[in-house]
Amino acid sequence: MAVQISPSILSADFARLADEAAAVPNADWLHVDVMDYHFVPNLTLGLPVVEALRKATSLPLDCHLMIDDPDRWAPSYAEAGAGSVTIHAEASSAPVRTLREIRSQGARAGLALNPATAVEPYEDLIGELDMLLLMTVEPGFGGQPFLDVVLPKIRRARALIERHGGQVWLQVDGGVSADTIERCAQAGADVFVAGSAVYGADDRVAAVDSLRALAEGAS
Ligand code: DX5
Ligand code: ZN
Repeated sequence: MAVQISPSILSADFARLADEAAAVPNADWLHVDVMDYHFVPNLTLGLPVVEALRKATSLPLDCHLMIDDPDRWAPSYAEAGAGSVTIHAEASSAPVRTLREIRSQGARAGLALNPATAVEPYEDLIGELDMLLLMTVEPGFGGQPFLDVVLPKIRRARALIERHGGQVWLQVDGGVSADTIERCAQAGADVFVAGSAVYGADDRVAAVDSLRALAEGAS
C-alpha cells in the first residue's frame, strides 16, 4: 500500500477552511476531526461544515468522528460526501451495522482505537473495514506528543491485517511529524494524519512532501 498523507484541519485556521484546504493540494486526504465535548473534552465542527467543505475542496474528506453515539451520526457524514468515515470502537455499540451503513452510502469505513484499546478483540471485524486508525495520542487535541507506547500495537495490527489479505489501510493519528513518522512507517502504518506538523509549517506543501518522503523511505 502506497503512503498517504492526510493533513488535519484541526490545526488550520477555522475561519479560512477553504483556503487551508487549498494549501495542501499535494495531500491525499483532508482529515476532519469531529468532536462533541462528550467523547473527548473538545468541540470542533459537525455536518454543516463537512457539507460546506465538500463543496470547497476537491480533496476527499477523511472524517474522524470523536463523538458519542457514532452509530446514530456516522451514516450522515457518508451521505454528506465524506470519502472516509471513521468511528471509535470505544463509542460504538453496533459497529458492524454502522460500518456497513457507511459503506452502503459509498464511503470507506474506518474503525479507530484509542492508545489503551487493544486491537486483537477487533480481528473478526477486519472484513468490515477499509481502514483501521490507531490513535498515537489520547484523542481531543492537536499538538500533543507522540505516544511511543502504541508502536507495538501498530506492528501487531499490521501483522493482523496481512493475515487477512492486506487490503485494510492502517492509519496513525496524533503527534505524527518529521521526528516520528519513520517509526510509524517502519511499524507498518501507511496512512499518516498530521495536524500541527503540516498546518504549523510555513510551507505546507513542503511539509506534506517531506513527511511523504520520510514515510516512503522508512516503509
Ligand atoms: C486528535 C486528532 C488529530 C489531531 C492531530 O485527537 O484526532 O487528528 O488533529 O494533531 P497533531 O498532528 O498536531 O498531533
Ligand atoms: Zn483525527
